[in-house]
Amino acid sequence: MKEGRCLALIGESGAGKSITALSLLRIVPPPGKITGGEVILDNRDLLKLGKEEMRLVRGEELALVFQDSLSTFNPVRTVGGHICETINAHRRLPNGQAKEMALEKMADLGLPAGRVFRSFPFQLSGGMRQRAALAMALCLHPRILITDEATTSLDVTLQAQVLHYLKKHLEDCCMSILFITHDLAAAAAVADQVAVIYAGRIVEKGQLKKVFKQPLHPYTQALLRSHPSFCPGTLKPIQGSPPDLALLPEGCSFYPRCPEAAGICLSRVPEMLEVDSGRQVACHLVKSAILTKGEIAAS
Ligand SMILES: Nc1ncnc2c1ncn2[C@@H]1O[C@H](COP(=O)(O)OP(=O)(O)OP(=O)(O)O)[C@@H](O)[C@H]1O
Ligand SMILES: [Mg+2]
Repeated sequence: MKEGRCLALIGESGAGKSITALSLLRIVPPPGKITGGEVILDNRDLLKLGKEEMRLVRGEELALVFQDSLSTFNPVRTVGGHICETINAHRRLPNGQAKEMALEKMADLGLPAGRVFRSFPFQLSGGMRQRAALAMALCLHPRILITDEATTSLDVTLQAQVLHYLKKHLEDCCMSILFITHDLAAAAAVADQVAVIYAGRIVEKGQLKKVFKQPLHPYTQALLRSHPSFCPGTLKPIQGSPPDLALLPEGCSFYPRCPEAAGICLSRVPEMLEVDSGRQVACHLVKSAILTKGEIAAS
């Protein structure tokens, strides 16, 4: 991820998007656990930090807003009380300043700030709670905001307003956003980079405009063809269903559903290949097409 930029993480239901977000914050619910890899922020591997250091990272450096904001708030506290308590746990602010910040962010997100501040979570609509959760995350000025389907439940007008606000925030506050969604249109509205995840692995990554215009991985192609915003009137659902992530097939995880799968796809996991500057694809077929093109050009 780059500072001041938004990376969309897209993929169908069950691809492992939420688990990725939870892993970045080290809050994977047991018995799940992180068995490998690194989470590098600046030059630190977050997986190696002590518990207390990691507690400070959460909220201040990495903030996560879930799809279901009911679980974000304490049910027996007012939304305002909860937000102020959270801000004060991370920052020492003069009396009343946390409240002022919260009210300002709520109003920016189109909420009737005073009423929402005084309400209990159950008294608000899902869309209001969702925006209150976003306001709380933004109050802490995180360096990276992770939104996991956080705008999906909003109606279209509100969603546009919130996406516009997030985009403005990116530019004004040097924040970065990891925008997790299966709503490709929402991703296109806010992100400049995109990563496509299938069965827990990134299969394609690059500039969003380029990837959406000319998807290279067969899964990205199928995902775009199955979305109404991209193929109105000619929708083609992806055949089959995603694999069980605990029982992945050998070779490329997508081969059982891939219309173009060849012999090598069944036996070897494809490596990520840089096909253009910043554009990466993990597919044997794309790799051999590039190699063939290179050989033809050389001859
Ligand atoms: N790397 C992994 N290894 C084993 N199981 C995994 C892994 N990643 C995710 N899972 C499991 O796969 C299931 C789906 O994962 P997850 O909830 O992250 O999907 P998602 O992409 O967020 O789907 P949705 O769009 O429906 O929210 C979960 O039960 C999760 O525990
Ligand atoms: Mg999810």
